[in-house]
Amino acid sequence: MAILPIIIAPDPKLRKKAEAVTAVDPEIVELMENMLETMYLAPGIGLAAPQIGVSKRVIVLDISKGEGSPDPICMANPKITWCSDETVTYEEGCLSLPKQYDQVTRPAKIRVSFLNKKNVQEECEANGLLATCIRHEMDHLTGTLFVDHLSHLKRTMILRKLKKLKKLNAS
Ligand code: NI
Repeated sequence: MAILPIIIAPDPKLRKKAEAVTAVDPEIVELMENMLETMYLAPGIGLAAPQIGVSKRVIVLDISKGEGSPDPICMANPKITWCSDETVTYEEGCLSLPKQYDQVTRPAKIRVSFLNKKNVQEECEANGLLATCIRHEMDHLTGTLFVDHLSHLKRTMILRKLKKLKKLNAS
């Protein structure tokens, strides 16, 4: 397994639309394992392939946050098949937007179909934090960041801050 560098916003690679995978073959399994290791080390509760510069529809999650046993979830080609009208609001952050947090409202319950690590089509229902996390990671697959759900002013402020930090770190 390997730890992969996480791309920090603003970066055009985070704005690209990711490609569907044809199958969860050994190469994709390796990608999933590397992504999980990278996510756990960060530490984070979700990571999407575009965040490590791989433009593929792959996401990994674990919302157990070190409490109890790990509960890693790997999804390729995730697709929302149903979502509730009821919504839920969480303070979101993102490994590509370090130390930036804000409230985002999303569906409280979703159903998602995906290819699992064994290349088997699965469908599951998720609610609360897991539903939010899946939606957040799926957003990355279409080049959307959580700040895109905020007001124009808030988004601009956060992205400007990150741009400045990047410049500072590069110099
Ligand atoms: Ni994110």
